This record gives sequence, structure tokens and C-alpha cells, in this order.
Amino acid sequence: MTNYKLVFAITFAALLSSCGGNKNTSSMTKEEIIEYRVDTLLSQMTLEEKLGQMNQLSFSSIEALQPAIEAGKVGSILNTEDAKTVNALQHIAVEKSRLHIPLLMSRDVIHGFKTIFPIPLGQGATFDPALVQKGARIAAVEASSTGIRWTFSPMVDIARDARWGRMAEGYGEDPYLTSLMGAATVRGYQTADLSDPTAMAACVKHFVGYGAAESGLDYNSTFIPERQLRNVYLPSFKASVDAGALTVMTSFNDNDGVPSTGNTFILKDILRNEWGFNGFVVTDWGSTSGLIVHGFATDAYDAAMKSINAGVDMEMVSGAILANGAKLIDDKRISMGEIDRAVSNILRVKFSLGLFENPYTDETSPSVMYTPDHLKAAKKSAIESAILLKNDGVLPLKKSVKRVLVVGPLADAPYEQMGTWVFDGEKEHTITPLAALKEMYGDRVKVTYMSVLDYSRDRNTSKISAAVSAARRADVILAFVGEESFLSGEAHCLADLNLVGAQKEMLRALGKTATPLVTVVMAGRPLTIGDELAESAAVLYSFHPGTMGGPALAELLMGDASPSGRTPVTFPRMVGQEPIYYARHQVERPANENEVLLYDIPVGSSQTSTGCRSFYLDAGKDALVPFGFGLTYTTFKYGEVHISSSEVGVKDTLTLSTTLTNTGKVAGTEVVQLYVQDCVGSVTRPMKELKRFRRVTLQPGESQKVSFQLPVSDLAYWTYPMVYKVEPGDFKAWISPNSKVGTPISFVVK
Ligand code: BGC
Repeated sequence: MTNYKLVFAITFAALLSSCGGNKNTSSMTKEEIIEYRVDTLLSQMTLEEKLGQMNQLSFSSIEALQPAIEAGKVGSILNTEDAKTVNALQHIAVEKSRLHIPLLMSRDVIHGFKTIFPIPLGQGATFDPALVQKGARIAAVEASSTGIRWTFSPMVDIARDARWGRMAEGYGEDPYLTSLMGAATVRGYQTADLSDPTAMAACVKHFVGYGAAESGLDYNSTFIPERQLRNVYLPSFKASVDAGALTVMTSFNDNDGVPSTGNTFILKDILRNEWGFNGFVVTDWGSTSGLIVHGFATDAYDAAMKSINAGVDMEMVSGAILANGAKLIDDKRISMGEIDRAVSNILRVKFSLGLFENPYTDETSPSVMYTPDHLKAAKKSAIESAILLKNDGVLPLKKSVKRVLVVGPLADAPYEQMGTWVFDGEKEHTITPLAALKEMYGDRVKVTYMSVLDYSRDRNTSKISAAVSAARRADVILAFVGEESFLSGEAHCLADLNLVGAQKEMLRALGKTATPLVTVVMAGRPLTIGDELAESAAVLYSFHPGTMGGPALAELLMGDASPSGRTPVTFPRMVGQEPIYYARHQVERPANENEVLLYDIPVGSSQTSTGCRSFYLDAGKDALVPFGFGLTYTTFKYGEVHISSSEVGVKDTLTLSTTLTNTGKVAGTEVVQLYVQDCVGSVTRPMKELKRFRRVTLQPGESQKVSFQLPVSDLAYWTYPMVYKVEPGDFKAWISPNSKVGTPISFVVK
């Protein structure tokens, strides 16, 4: 390897001295030094070099990129894979370009680099931000060892429509849960010391409202009014920015007609002026030119102008800013102030990451991929993310089980179980449920495997009858069904949320045998599995669980681990209920508890005989599975809820508590959840909002007092008119195992 470090140290010293390095920086804070360095460097840059920093290119080949890098026309490269390539590119930037500015290397490291963790939706199901932070740290350690110092994650888009394939990439439907998970992910990637060579800059995306795409169709328009934007879609971004996220990515959608990449209100008014964000904004892939496709800009010149003036700092791949920036300045359509703002924001991030001191990656250090610690954390995450939706007692599998029939297209599909956005994880390192079951059972139990369907979309039903015969000779059937990884993620939307292919037929046939059927679903979204819940003795739901999904699921099934995941999204009965979420506002005509449905309504009924209330004649009023739901192998009893005071002022802090008891025979982990309702507001309010949660592990018979501190200021929201405040009045609170149940306690804010 070239001694890049030495060569660079010499060049860097030269650069510093050419930076007006006379100033005494010894009395400055770290931040002041960075600002000083940014200003000094900026003052030496030509307009072309400034526009170059705003330009991000996708990796093609070193030779192809060399001229542009040498000419200072590239600020960042995405999609490099190895340290050798990164060093070669970096060498061109820091040795051969006039100002020696290092490149920022980036990649979509979404839920792990080599060691793949559960998809973010699964990580949301853990309700365990500390574990999510650890997963992000591991991803950063692995990715940064190849020179990647910037990832396009976390996605903190609130997603309430499972047709939208990208629901897989976020933490679910809830602003509070997503805020905690997003912030934890940022901390995990970046660490407290950004200049640590393993720190990886986070990119919070997609700013903003992308998950509200009409009809759950990716890239579709959104129509989110400002109040809903502020109350539902912005908090998770604010939390990530407050956690220190260095970059933010614009979204592909237009909201109320304004594409995010040209939206001054979100990029300047909110992000910069209200939140004080001082990192940089990158567009999503090609989104500056995308303004032309939207019909929001006439050509690349117009698109570049609109995105710069709106507050974009770096353009991902479409090159419109680089090509048109100089003319826009000449024509006075953009000011040099806007360009300097953008370039300063980018340089600030590069200085913070220590790239100027440390542009190269050690190609000789031992591999940090798939270390035992990383695999252990990935397994823990997969265990905690699995949600037990039903169990008639068949789980955990009894010691008396001697013949297990394993079926289904996801039982031994190492690539599919990793889920969407896996560019670097290798299926050769993935352990499937079949492999793990065989390993764990050894010779003690006969494990028979029949995939029945070759892949999830397989419609060939010819092997079902053989499986039914085999099932009759088994003590239990373990069916692994769901979605191939390709069926969720970007641009992978579905208008039907039933299990694809002949999976329904297979489960129905197996469910009719006398042998208990345990169904394990591995998918990128909540599917409409009402039939499968009815036909199975137990159902375990695992959002694509990653590299260690097999051992995690096998341990859960066998009782070596205990299920503790909770639904981070509401599961619909029928796709027509989408978008569906628990925090709906109170309507004027709520449904009754037991509405008469479609097939029970007498023929010739008069129009108003079923009342005029808010429910579907076919799907009824309820979800299939509510938000926050998940069973364990034990039972928990919630005591009465106590509140520190039933009358509080806006500056007070409430303490809400209950006593939780494990009333079952085995240890278990409960996710205790605190919900609040603001009963009357200047606008209508959600019927419940998650405010706190805690994972609590109890031994059989053990009780524990669970207390939540809730500052009353946490009850603030964007009121009418648009002011963020707590409105005095009546509130209700629940401490409960999920969003659907529990007895409320009342309090008043004076
Ligand atoms: C996606 C982003 C991603 C980017 C870079 C886009 O298509 O929307 O989420 O980070 O590509 O790969």
C-alpha cells in the first residue's frame, strides 16, 4: 500500500500554513476552530471548487472519476465498497486536487454492513433504543473499516400504510417510538467523538412526509397540512437533529404541490431557522433534476436554482448544480451567500469527522466483520424484534417433541431473511431457521424439511399434499412463510397484503391436520394474516431478521429465549383499512363495541338500520393486531395506576406508576407502555399517544413497581393557531400492555 498517511501529513501541514494559519487557535473551542478552518478554506476556493463540493457522484471506476476529482469537482462519492478503492480515490482528492479537500465516502448502510441486523421496522419492534444504538455502532465499525464515513440512515419517516414498501426501512407508525429509535441510531453511528475513525455521519431521511405517500404508492404526492406535519411527521427528524445528526436528506415527494428538494419552508424556515441545524442537506438520488420531472422546474438551470435557493447543500448525482451554478451566479439568480452557506455546511461536516487529518483507511488492519460480538448483538436484536401474536400453548416447543416438520419458502432462504437494503451482507454468513433447528436439535429430534414452495411467490401447489402426509407423521409443523426481501423496500409497494403465492393454500391445508401448526412470518411489513392466525396454533412475526434470524427464531421456538417484541405498526384485517394507526383523532360518530357486519345485516334493511357510525361493513372497526401488542410465554398482571397529582401545572412533572406482576410460570419481559389523551383541544386530538415505555423482565411470581416521569411540557403540541404549547384541561393516561387496552386515570392541567 502507498504510504498515503505520510504523504498526506506533509500536504496537510502545507495546507494549514496556506490557510492563513497565523491565527492563534489555542484559546478557541473545538467548534470555533472548525469554523475558523471552514472560513479560511472557503476564502481560498474558486466558484468552481465550491460547486464541486456540492456535487456527489456515484462510484463507477477510479479512472472514470479521476479527472473530476482532480479538478475539485466532486465533494462526495457514494457506493464504494472497499478500503483500497476508497484510498485510491481519496489519494486523488488530497494529493492531486488544488486544495487537497478530502472526499466524503458514503453508502446505504441501513441495518448493518456485513452483519445484518433486523430491518429497521423489526428494530422498532424491540422497543429497545439501547440495543438499536448498539446495532448502529456495529454497523459503523464494520462500514468505516472500508472507508465509509457517511451512511444514509436512519429513515425516520412515519409510516402508517403497509402498502408502502418502505415501511420496512423505518421504525413504524409512532412519532415517539420513531424519535427515540432515530436518535439512538444517530448516536450509535456518530458516537460522541465524530473524529473517531469509526464514527460514521448519519443522514436523517427523507425530509419530509415521504411515508404519507397517497395510496401507499412510493414517490407519490403527499398532502399533509402544516399542523399534522409538525405534530406527526417532523418530531422524529427534530429528535435526530437534536441527537447531533450531521446530515439530512430531502424526500422525493411533493407535499401540497411543493417537492421537498425545492421547499424553502421545510429546509430553511424549519430545519435551519427553527431547529438551528448546522450540518448539510443532501438531495435524494437525482432529486434536483427530479424537480423537472415533477413539473416544478423547466430545466436543469431552473432546478439547480430552485434547490439551492430552497436550502439544498449537496446534490446527489444529477449534476445540475455543478453544471449551472456559475451561470446562476452570473445571472444573479442565486447569491454567492447561498453557495458559501452550502459549502461551509459541507466542510464543517468534513472537518468534524476529522477527514482532513485522517483521510485514509488502514487496509492492513484485521477484519472487523462478523465478529462474535457483532453476531451476538444481531441475534439479540432478532430475538427482541420477534412478536408472538398467538399461542394456544404449543410454544415453547415441548421436550416431548421428537419429530418436527419444517416447511415453507422462508425456512431456508438465507438471502431473503436479510430483508431489503442489503448491499454488503452475504447470504453465506446468514444462518437460517432450518440450519439453526437442525444444529440445536442434533440427533435428539428428527427434523424433516420440505420447502413445499420454492420461494414466497411460488404458485405451484403440487407439493402441498405430500407435506400434508408428512405433517400427519410429525409432532409439530413449523411453517416459515412471508415475503422475499424484494417485496418490500424502495419502489416495492403492494396493493394486496395477503401472503403471496400459494402460501395461504399451503397453510390452510396444513392447518387442517391434527398436528399443531406453528406459523413464523418473515416479512417487510404487516401482512393481512387473519386467516393464518385462525388456522395456526401459534404465530410468531419476525420483520426480516437478518444474519442471525435463524438462531434467534429457533431459540424462541424452543424456549431458550422468550418473545418480547411488540408491534411497531398496526396490523390491518384487510388492506382497505390502510392507512391505519392507533393515534387517530376522535370522530363525531365513533363505532360501537359490537357493530353488525356485512353478512349479518338482514336483506332489505333500511338505510339507517345499522346506525351511522364509523366502521367498515366488512372489516368492522378494529385492527387485526393493535400497535404495541405482543405476547410472552408468561402472563402479566397490571395493578392500579397511581398518579402523583390529579391537578398539575404546565411546569410540573407527573409520576405515573403501577405494579407489574409476572403471574405465570416462567420468566418474561413485558413492554410497559404509557399512553395519554388530551381530551379537549383547540383542535381535535389523537385518542391515545404513546409517551413512555419500558422493557421489564420479571421472574415467575415477581412484582415490580414501574414508574414513569412525565414532564407536563411533554403534552405540548401544535395548537390552533399554530403555537406549540400545552393546553390546560382534562387528560387521561393509561399504563398498559398495548394501545388497545387498559383503564384510564384522569388528571387536569391547570
Ligand atoms: C433512496 C435513498 C437512498 C439513495 C441512495 C434513493 O433512491 O430513496 O433512501 O439513500 O437512493 O442510494
